[in-house]
Amino acid sequence: MLDGKKMLFSGMQATGTLTLGNYLGALKNWLTMSEEYECFYSVVDLHSITVRQDPAELRKRARNLLTLYIAAGLDPVKNCIYYQSHVSGHAELAWILNCFTYVGELNRMTQFKDKAAKHADNINAGLYTYPVLMAADILLFQADVVPVGIDQMQHLEITRDIAERFNNIYGDVFTIPEAYLGKTGAKIMSLQEPTKKMSKSDENPNASILLMDDTDTIIRKFKRAVTDSDNTILYKDEKPGIKNLIDIYSSVTGKTPAEVEKEFDGKGYGDFKLAVGETVADMLKPVQDKFNELSKDKEYIDGIIKANAEKASYVANKTLRKVKKKVGFPEMIR
Ligand code: TRP
Repeated sequence: MLDGKKMLFSGMQATGTLTLGNYLGALKNWLTMSEEYECFYSVVDLHSITVRQDPAELRKRARNLLTLYIAAGLDPVKNCIYYQSHVSGHAELAWILNCFTYVGELNRMTQFKDKAAKHADNINAGLYTYPVLMAADILLFQADVVPVGIDQMQHLEITRDIAERFNNIYGDVFTIPEAYLGKTGAKIMSLQEPTKKMSKSDENPNASILLMDDTDTIIRKFKRAVTDSDNTILYKDEKPGIKNLIDIYSSVTGKTPAEVEKEFDGKGYGDFKLAVGETVADMLKPVQDKFNELSKDKEYIDGIIKANAEKASYVANKTLRKVKKKVGFPEMIR
């Protein structure tokens, strides 16, 4: 609890650029969360170095991500958007929690197995203990809720297990977090293979709409979206391409799929794709303009970064002091 509000924590990696899927599926839902929760969103650069990164690129992408979140409407005063590496408590608590995590548990993590297979030349210890750092992120902020994608559920489970184990030994130190899967907001699929999730790491550039794509690019990508050939705009599982476009259009306009079907009754795919493209482009344009404006305002962004690092450190240190005392570290002499 902070100022009588429950705590929310989430982390995001600065890999690649954000897609329309990230925006409609996650980010947009977060805009109103700060009314109910004290929100912390960390750009998790400590996690990023579990795979090799180009230093200049990493720094640039991290800053762009932070700026884009603000541009998309997350108020940086009501939402503490900060760099994980600016709050040393993450690494400190991760070390302590490493000593309360079993190798057997980590061996079961499917993301580790996937990433180890993908980066066979660099299976480092950080990649292996990645879930412990994630647990530290969440527990450091005593998060009540953690918005995550379904792929992170196993990491959330291990976080709860570690927290419960620690609490069983030392008393109630950590809040046990719950996953927040969001209002079942539309899951946005690839425009080229509509049975696959839209992903920022897709190799086919036509498969994803990037948040920074310009209007022409967006319209072109929607025109090329893979659909069936019966030319009727109906919301059906057998028509995954059209269903995805309806989901996107619904999500942006707030109309129900049935209303969208009605709106485009008698129209062809060409008209529909153009309408979806224009609607999405119109939605993203102000975000992009804001991003460009904010990117130029170095002082403003620096100010946010500094203030939020201080705020996050303050909250983190409260937990950390308690934990250090519990495990038996001597008090600092000041
Ligand atoms: N592992 C998460 C992902 O790849 C990112 C992350 C790091 C995170 N720490 C977190 C998410 C804490 C939620 C809470 O998506």
